[in-house]
Amino acid sequence: MTRTAICPGSFDPLTNGHVAIIERALRLFERVVIAVSVNIRKQPLFTMEERAALIRQSFPSETRIEVAELSGLLAEWARARGAVAIVKGLRAASDFEYELQMAQMNRHLNPELDTLFLPTEAAGSYVSSSLVKEVAALGGDVSALVPAHVHAALHERLARPPRPPREGRS
Ligand code: PNS
Repeated sequence: MTRTAICPGSFDPLTNGHVAIIERALRLFERVVIAVSVNIRKQPLFTMEERAALIRQSFPSETRIEVAELSGLLAEWARARGAVAIVKGLRAASDFEYELQMAQMNRHLNPELDTLFLPTEAAGSYVSSSLVKEVAALGGDVSALVPAHVHAALHERLARPPRPPREGRS
């Protein structure tokens, strides 16, 4: 039986911290599905398609990875893919409460699904997608914190932000 894990997240954008967690998940599971999600609490910089493409570019020859857009409930989505685990990185104690709550809710919704927390490397524990975007937008150097193609995409997007959707005709 192929043991599949899901790595879910907004990935807006992918950071080196995400890459490290995905690589570690690949050592523990035969197949890893990266679930790119809408996060209703956050306004994204990149579209779902862009975020998924940036992840695919980071693992060009890894056949055990699938990148897919998550719709609906993660617990049900994971069930439909026969996944046995969700793998998430924990950076600090401050992540823990929210992550624990989600893990317990997911287990309530799908008792076949476990959540594994992997502690992130201490050196990158301060890195988050939100902070990377903020620092890059203010001219800070984030080149060591994200893959090179993500860095290029970030600068391109910040130089030319997408147009807001039009609000009807007048
Ligand atoms: O990278 P993020 O934004 O912290 O990831 C959050 C994510 C995608 C894991 C979470 O928002 C999620 O699981 N969304 C899918 C919808 C869902 O199942 N919500 C209930 C979670 S218990």
